[in-house]
Amino acid sequence: MQHRTIIEPFKIKSVEPIHLGTEEERCVHLARAHYNPFLLRSDQVVIDLMTDSGTSAMSARQWAGIMEGDEAYAGSLSWMKMERAVRDLTGFEHILPTHQGRAAERILYSHLGGPGKVFISNTHFDTTRANIEFSGATAIDIPIAEGRDTALEYPFKGNLDIAALDTLLKQHAGMVGAVILTVTNNSGGGQPVSMANAEGISLICKKHGVLFLLDCCRIAENSWFVQHREPEMRDVSYRAIAQRMFALTDGAIMSAKKDALVNMGGFLALKDPDLAEACISTLIITEGFTTYGGLSGRDMEAIAIGLEEVFDPNYLDYRIKSTAYLGDRLHRMGVPVMRPSGGHAIYVDAKKLYPHIPVHQYSGQALVCQLYRLGGIRSVEIGSVMFGTYDANGDLIPAAMELVRLAIPRRVYTQSHIEYVLETFEEVLRTCDAVHGLRITKEPKFLRHFTAHFEPLQ
Ligand code: F0G
Repeated sequence: MQHRTIIEPFKIKSVEPIHLGTEEERCVHLARAHYNPFLLRSDQVVIDLMTDSGTSAMSARQWAGIMEGDEAYAGSLSWMKMERAVRDLTGFEHILPTHQGRAAERILYSHLGGPGKVFISNTHFDTTRANIEFSGATAIDIPIAEGRDTALEYPFKGNLDIAALDTLLKQHAGMVGAVILTVTNNSGGGQPVSMANAEGISLICKKHGVLFLLDCCRIAENSWFVQHREPEMRDVSYRAIAQRMFALTDGAIMSAKKDALVNMGGFLALKDPDLAEACISTLIITEGFTTYGGLSGRDMEAIAIGLEEVFDPNYLDYRIKSTAYLGDRLHRMGVPVMRPSGGHAIYVDAKKLYPHIPVHQYSGQALVCQLYRLGGIRSVEIGSVMFGTYDANGDLIPAAMELVRLAIPRRVYTQSHIEYVLETFEEVLRTCDAVHGLRITKEPKFLRHFTAHFEPLQ
C-alpha cells in the first residue's frame, strides 16, 4: 500500500519542552524586543523557523559518536573519520575542517579574492558575498530569469544563467576568482540546481580556465530534486548524484550546520594542492591545527555520521515532502508563497500579502511580527530590512522582493507543529487589513536586520 501520510521516519528519544505562552505575553515580549524577533529569548518562541542552520536534532548514533570524540590536538581519530567521510563524498584530496561555513569562506576568498577580482554565482549567500567584498573583490549574481519570478512553477529555479556566464567570463578574463554554485540556492528561495546546469558551468569554466566551486551546504536536498525532476537521473542514488556534481567542480565549501545534521561545523575541500597549502597556513593561524580546525573531536565525529545519515532515502523523502506540504497548503489557502517549494524553507511574499503597506514601512517585518504575536512563530524578513539601503537624500532604496522565510530545522518539528503553523496563517489571512507597517527607530551601519529597533505605525 502507498500511504499519503508523510510520517517522520524517526522516533523521539529525547524531548525539549516548548513554553506555550499567550498572545498577551507575546505582545509584551515583542515590544521589549523592539519588534525585532532576533532580540527575543528562545524560550519566548513556540515554533522557531528562523533558520535551518545549526538547529538540527542529532540522532542517537550521533550522540553516541559524541561520547567517542577523540579530543587529541594532533592526529585525532575523530578527524580521520570526518576526513574520510568528506573525501568519500566529495572526491577531493585536501580537506580542511572549520568551525562553520563562513570560516571556510574567509580562508578561501582571502586567497582567491582581492581588489579587481570578480566572483560569479547563481546567488552568493550573504556571508559569501561579505567575505568576497571584504577582500576587495566584486560578487556578481546571475540566477536564471525564471528564478526571479516567485509565482512561476519551474523545476530548477536555482540554476545559473549560462549565457550570462560566458559573457562575463569573456568580459572579466584573467580576473575571475571563481564561479560559485550554491546548491540549493538559499538566497534564491532554496531552489534546486540541475545536474545539466552544473555540467554546462563546468564545461565553460574549463574552457576559460576558471575555478569552479560548490557551496554544498544543502547538497543532499538538492540531490533529491535532481533525482525526482531530471529524467536522466531517475535511477541514480542521492549520494551518487551528489558525488557526480562534486566531480564537475574544483572544490567545495560546506556549512555542516545544514545537511551534515549537526549544530556546529564546516569544511573546505580542494583539488589543487598549491591552493590547499596556502589555505592550510591561514587555517592554522585563524582556526586551528589541520586535524581539528575550529572543531572539537566530538563535533567531527557527529559530522562524519551526519553526512552518511542525510542521504538516507527515507529521510530525504520526508524532508522535502514535509517542506512542500507546508508550502502547498499555504498556497492553497491563498497565502502568496514562492513556487514551487524549495528544500529547506518556504518564502512568503509579504508585498502581495500586505499590498496596503508601502515599501518603506516594511511589509515583511510586519508579517514577521504578526506571526510571532499570533502563534509565537519566529521567522526572518528577507526584504528591505535585510537588504535595503539609503540614497544620498536618506530615502530608502528597497530590496527587489519583500519575503519572509520560514526555515524548517531538520528532524525537529512534527506534522502537528506544522498544522499549528498553518492554523496561525488562517488568522494571518483574516487579519490582513488590520496590520500596519513599522518604522526603524535605531539601526547599526552594517547588517542592520540583526539589531535594528522598530516601532509599529498605527
Ligand atoms: N552558504 C550558504 C548557502 C548558507 O546558507 C550559509 C548559512 C552559509 C554559506 C554560511 O554558513 O552559517 O555555517 O557560517 N546560512 C544560514 C541561514 C545562516 O540561516 O541560511 P555558516
